[in-house]
Amino acid sequence: MKNKADELFKNVKTLPSLPPVVQKIFSSINDPRVGARQLAEIITTDQTLTLRVLKLVNSSFFGLRGKVQNIHHAVTMLGFSTIRQICLGVSICNKFKNLKTTSELTGSSFWAHSVASATLAKKICKTATKLEPDACYTLGLVHDIGKLLLMEHHMNMFVQTVNKAGRESIPLQESEQQVFDLDHADVGSWLMRKWNLPRDARRSVKNHHSANMNAISPISPDAMTGVIYFANQLAHHFGLGGSGNPATALEEDKFRKFFGKNVDEMDIDKVSLHEEVHVSLEILGVADNVPSAV
Ligand SMILES: [Fe+2]
Ligand SMILES: [Fe+2]
Repeated sequence: MKNKADELFKNVKTLPSLPPVVQKIFSSINDPRVGARQLAEIITTDQTLTLRVLKLVNSSFFGLRGKVQNIHHAVTMLGFSTIRQICLGVSICNKFKNLKTTSELTGSSFWAHSVASATLAKKICKTATKLEPDACYTLGLVHDIGKLLLMEHHMNMFVQTVNKAGRESIPLQESEQQVFDLDHADVGSWLMRKWNLPRDARRSVKNHHSANMNAISPISPDAMTGVIYFANQLAHHFGLGGSGNPATALEEDKFRKFFGKNVDEMDIDKVSLHEEVHVSLEILGVADNVPSAV
């Protein structure tokens, strides 16, 4: 059965696809059979990704002594989580960084918000959940990806939704529902389904504004949704990037209930967070030259 997103994008010939290697890496995250050697084997099936990762790990960002010659070496030097995070992040940003944006939501705002959400998702997941930090990072990075598809293919209507949200001080997703009869979270999770990403990952994107946080805890199967839900709010809270959403405040009571502490007890240093996001933007290749006008 066709859903609303199928209908909205029915004339689009090619949607951004994920290289098979990225799907394999993501699916391997919780697979205990995948060790350093197996992860390296998966990555090296894609030559472009392999070269890109080797170039990055040998760059000054990582400050490693001596040259990293191959992916297996990179995994042993930097660890599974970091290498998977780099592979997933670099591949995703590469697919999306040239899509259209607009002065109502510039590429630099969008990517700063997305990378900040990713960085915060990774930080907060470590404090309360048993989730893999690189999976949380990747989902934080893609949680608003539906906006890029809406801008790429329905720019005029998308600009209308941003303006309407600003004018009426309503959440962007509410304005999108009124204009498109779906929102960017629906579009993002629809695309992730096409990429064959796991259900809990898709659900965390679909519900990043609408989750019932009373029903979710750090140990429930939906813990990932809670992490992405708050990572998005925290990116706004710490003033990193913009998402075209004028009405995103941190729900402090829900936050305290989920994590068992307040944000200021979470050991998040604002200055180092800003630095970390800046470095991540550079590593992912979205720090500058992002298209900012149609
Ligand atoms: Fe969103
Ligand atoms: Fe967001």
